[in-house]
Amino acid sequence: MKALILSGGKGTRLRPLTYTGAKQLVPVANKPILWYGIEGIVAAGITDIGIIISPETGEEVKAKTGDGSRFGAKITYILQSEPAGLAHAVKIARPFLGDSPFIMYLGDNLIQSQLDPFLENFNKQKLDALILLRPVPNPSAFGVAKVDENGRVLQLVEKPIVPPSNLALVGIYFFAPTIHEAIDQIQPSPRGELEITDAIQQLINQEKHVEACNLDGWWLDTGKKDDLLSANQIILDSCIVASTELKVDAKSQIIGRVQVGEGSEIINSTVRGPVVIGENCRIENCFIGPYSSIADRVTMVDADIEHSVILQGAKIVGIHQRIVDSVIGQRAQLTNAPPRPKALRFMIGDDSQIELV
Ligand code: TTP
Repeated sequence: MKALILSGGKGTRLRPLTYTGAKQLVPVANKPILWYGIEGIVAAGITDIGIIISPETGEEVKAKTGDGSRFGAKITYILQSEPAGLAHAVKIARPFLGDSPFIMYLGDNLIQSQLDPFLENFNKQKLDALILLRPVPNPSAFGVAKVDENGRVLQLVEKPIVPPSNLALVGIYFFAPTIHEAIDQIQPSPRGELEITDAIQQLINQEKHVEACNLDGWWLDTGKKDDLLSANQIILDSCIVASTELKVDAKSQIIGRVQVGEGSEIINSTVRGPVVIGENCRIENCFIGPYSSIADRVTMVDADIEHSVILQGAKIVGIHQRIVDSVIGQRAQLTNAPPRPKALRFMIGDDSQIELV
């Protein structure tokens, strides 16, 4: 069994962060989204992993993630010259995949469940494809499946105007090598992409064995700002363990689960967990509220923040209104706000400089 993680694409919904960086490297609780997927795959016993990368962000993904040794895996990077669809990504990964069955994992998806039970089901029943489904209130935004009472998939449609059910396809699929012939038989969709839903529909039309399982636990598609903040909240809630030795001065107060990296200083501040603070940060005269993730080398002085994600090297100084529900890009600077508005809500791209006067 191999795994194929898709980490190319355009990431238009997470602009401006994705003008300068890969969406799959945006951190959730200070760890790139992509790494959660890799860890889940390795935990299911799969260590031969291909990662689809784009020309724009591929080098960054490679540099950050490496050859896989840090995960106990072997990673092969596969360049997709343009984001021509999920089935196109499988097509260009064919030399890597060979005749092996594989898990296809969208690099911006996060799930709570382990993959083992699905993998076991896929192997035991010798399926051609196993898809994971989740009821959603807005099925038109997803690939949607119609299934019979035995879990057999009858129909799949990509982002339908009139959805045949409320069951959305989660971005994790299990395929036998028969998917390659199905992909060879499909044409690009009206939006110009080779759709994986069309390829699976092709398997269904040929009466191959395609089944669906319901996914329990949380599922987050981190494509948009609010999804990213929800993912950050859920991961901080479930995964953060308090650091045992915190470098704080006598005037600071640490409440709840707070993790602080090497070389970070907390001075005259209150930090109320769950919160994660990276390495070499300076937090002075601040309130850091629940569900905040602060990456490495961030400076915060005279500022209040909660339920926000601050990327590497950002600088927030002298903002007296509380910053909430915000994502602040790498090296962005926010300085000197007068004490007027009650709250500020931001999505600011890398290298932005904001001065409130
Ligand atoms: P999407 O979120 O569907 O597409 P996108 O990344 O282009 O994002 P947006 O809608 O904001 O423009 O892609 C799901 C995952 O698959 C994501 O991790 C990117 C990846 N992908 C590829 O690797 N190659 C592709 O051709 C496409 C379409 C997506």
